[in-house]
Amino acid sequence: MADLEAVMDEAGLTNPEVREFVKEYAELTGAERIEVVNASDDRRLLEEAVAAGELEKAGEGRYYSRSYHKDTARSEERTIVATADEKDRGVYNNWRPSSEMKPKLHDLMRGASEGKTMYVVPYLMAPAGNALAPWAAGVELTDTRTVVLHMIRMARVGVQFVNDLEDPGHFVRAVHVTGDLENLGQGTDRDKRYFVTVADERTILHFGSSYGGNALLGKIAHGLRQGAYDGWASGKFLAEQYMLIGIHDKETGKDYHVCGGFPSASGKTNLAMMAAPDALGERYHVSFYGDDIAWLWVDEASGKLYGMNPEYGVFGVAKDTNETTNPNALASVGPHTDCIFTNVAYNPTTGEVWWEGRTKEKPKDRHGWLDWTGSPVADRKDDDTAPWAHPNSRFTTTLANVPNIAQDYDAPTGVPIDAIIFGGRTRDREPLIRAITDLAEGVYDGLTLGAEATSAAEGKEGILRYDPMSNRPFMAYGEGDYARHYLDVVGAATDQPIFAHVNWFQRDATDGHFLWPGYRDNLRPLLWLLQLKNGEVEGRRTAVGIIPTEEELDLEGVDIAPDDLERILSIDTERWQQEMDFREEHLSQFDRMPDEIWEAHRRVAEELDAEA
Ligand code: GDP
Ligand code: PGA
Ligand code: MN
Ligand code: MN
Repeated sequence: MADLEAVMDEAGLTNPEVREFVKEYAELTGAERIEVVNASDDRRLLEEAVAAGELEKAGEGRYYSRSYHKDTARSEERTIVATADEKDRGVYNNWRPSSEMKPKLHDLMRGASEGKTMYVVPYLMAPAGNALAPWAAGVELTDTRTVVLHMIRMARVGVQFVNDLEDPGHFVRAVHVTGDLENLGQGTDRDKRYFVTVADERTILHFGSSYGGNALLGKIAHGLRQGAYDGWASGKFLAEQYMLIGIHDKETGKDYHVCGGFPSASGKTNLAMMAAPDALGERYHVSFYGDDIAWLWVDEASGKLYGMNPEYGVFGVAKDTNETTNPNALASVGPHTDCIFTNVAYNPTTGEVWWEGRTKEKPKDRHGWLDWTGSPVADRKDDDTAPWAHPNSRFTTTLANVPNIAQDYDAPTGVPIDAIIFGGRTRDREPLIRAITDLAEGVYDGLTLGAEATSAAEGKEGILRYDPMSNRPFMAYGEGDYARHYLDVVGAATDQPIFAHVNWFQRDATDGHFLWPGYRDNLRPLLWLLQLKNGEVEGRRTAVGIIPTEEELDLEGVDIAPDDLERILSIDTERWQQEMDFREEHLSQFDRMPDEIWEAHRRVAEELDAEA
């Protein structure tokens, strides 16, 4: 590849260390040519992808793609954090020595991009000029064009983000090689895939997938795993799987900011895109800052805890997205948004897309529809109930397409954080909301988040498990050290945020219906939380936090049976006492868990015993 230098010259890629990195991996992977990508290349790349059959048109300015049928979700087993120091081993990070993993990945990648183009995608996982921007620059090398198109939607992309770095070597080196998807033994004991973050070298090596959650290295691997490691190593910040919203009260003129973690496919995107319920819309407006990742730090000037979304787009779950549940999501993937749908059902004749929950009934005329595997649904047997869209089918769109995007979403400052919430799919025990005012108890609560896993991870759906801070798949270092770092960062802030645990997913034991209507109505418990913080309501004290009384919660226009309401606003003490034993076991796995966390655990346990 003699013209490699010339291509980089032509593209104005001047950072000498980036150029070295590109050369090293172009040689290793055997790519036939390289192409340096700027966001302004989007239109041309879309056209090329359509011409090559990688994307299909889904009406005007919308696109459709299908991923290989064994490559539709993140693989947690194959995801590894590698460093030189075994002290970085945690329970969840699948730690391996970098001396073992780097050569392994290099062997897998050697010659694996032969005949292909290696795209060079410089990116920034932060608004330009943000306090954490020094940890946000990266370059993803990928041999798949649709991954480039996703990156342009999900991150700020262009050579300007790496050319003028203060330290030219301080960028994340992210390499994505797709591999021969049909011969990787996905999910078998001969699985060849590896998704490795060499965290202490700020190098990401992913082999064997083109699914977004494995292949968009700016988002998942840098935004979460590498970000978390850097935040800890620098002592400066946290990188969390959190949504981040603004709530504007038009009556008082006040703005609040709430962030929080729910495991993948458990409601972050829907909460961030929330349109206030009709009865509250006159007074409140919810604005979208982020729906999957927040980086948190203490602002030096004000001493306050701040947060920002490092991403530039939304990679959202399609299932159950409709005019009622999430009108903003639908608008964000409307005509001329240049959004990309992946693994939904598709009608190539009309360009329509469909997924379960899009409409109550499936499209009437089955003729012409293809399911997510590309098979005609008209050929299905009558009793075939398999979904038309993959349960983890997704839409990808840029933040600017989101109707409720915050006006200042791209501002370098970030926003001050008033509240941090945790939640997940928990069918019993967890009430609608319980507020926690003590930092250690809040962190303890996050560390003991127990929820059902979802189809965002391979082979896990429905399994109840602990998912600390919703970061289990993204843990970069030891959980005890993580807890210490969390306490230190948030503890250094002058105004402490209030914590809360929320649950939109409690179910009736008999018929399984959701007790709480959810979606837009989720604003109500959040408003109560802010009122509690402001001293405007008192709630009811319990061992596991403060819960709202029925009177305090604004329920105007909510469709809920009185029995169901009572259930979601009460604590089953016996069930919670049982839970405390599981928590003890869970926390005992972790090395160096701070005393404050154990003290919080014992305090809650004692109070539960006193209540019983
Ligand atoms: P994320 O992956 O955490 O961003 O979760 P999403 O917001 O994409 O939601 C994942 C799935 O949960 C989608 O199928 C949503 O329709 C569904 N969901 C989100 N919020 C609620 C809610 O409040 N109640 C119910 N029942 N389902 C919800
Ligand atoms: P999600 O994002 O949390 O919105 O599902 C993708 C993922 O975490 O895999
Ligand atoms: Mn996520
Ligand atoms: Mn999401």
